[in-house]
Amino acid sequence: MGEEARHRPIGVYDSGIGGLTVVGWLRKVLPEERILYFGDTARVPYGGRARGEIIEFSRQIVGFFLSQGVKFIIAACNTSSALALPVVAQETDVPLMGVIRAGAEAAVSATKAERIGVIGTQGTVNSRAYTEAVKKLAPDAFVREQACPELVPMIEAGYRDGEVVEELLHRYLQPLIDYRIDTLILGCTHYPYLLAPIRRLMGPDVKIVDPAEAVAREARNELQALGLLNEKKAGEDLFFVSGDPDRFQAAALQLGYTQRVEHVEIEQYSI
Ligand code: DGL
Repeated sequence: MGEEARHRPIGVYDSGIGGLTVVGWLRKVLPEERILYFGDTARVPYGGRARGEIIEFSRQIVGFFLSQGVKFIIAACNTSSALALPVVAQETDVPLMGVIRAGAEAAVSATKAERIGVIGTQGTVNSRAYTEAVKKLAPDAFVREQACPELVPMIEAGYRDGEVVEELLHRYLQPLIDYRIDTLILGCTHYPYLLAPIRRLMGPDVKIVDPAEAVAREARNELQALGLLNEKKAGEDLFFVSGDPDRFQAAALQLGYTQRVEHVEIEQYSI
């Protein structure tokens, strides 16, 4: 990539609105970068899908981003990062970064007792990607992963708090509380939307790690190392979805995002 490559946008993707928690941090840490966001809203949730499917979806999304001339791609989705990234990153020349390593690093820095809990989708938890990433950094750490399959559909449907949310969270978090974890990784980019009830249930002493901030900082370091940091933002961020753009626009607006949202026939693309 030549001198003008630094002016190209970054592609960021997730199954739905979850990756916007990463976009929020990217805007703070990399304000000069233009972001193209893709939410696979026609196929959310990813959490219970087979690995082959998640790999194929990531290939299509990366193919779409390549057609838009991006310089760097972030899988702002733990499920894709865990299941697809190791394969798909080998298939493209554009650097592709996930969220798991940064999340594991942030948790290892935060923990005192080396007792770490992870909540994520079934796919992420089955992959054991967080356990492996933490153990690389802290081989003696105790890591317990808990799948929370009902959370993403609930968050996509607009629920953030209240009795039903709290009951579900209680069921998922109690085993981790019983294991006396001192650090909890939000191992799904949708979960920071539930930070308030999660904090209430975990109590004030447990450190809650949202990998998004560490992801944004790692992206900054990688762009810098590659000579791809932009010095001045040119153009607006743009959001794309595989499902209904109006529905996504309404959800994004509630979260403070005013970007235009466009529909994409994502199956047409591949690497
Ligand atoms: N935000 C995705 C993640 O981080 C959600 C996956 C899903 O759609 O189930 O794993």
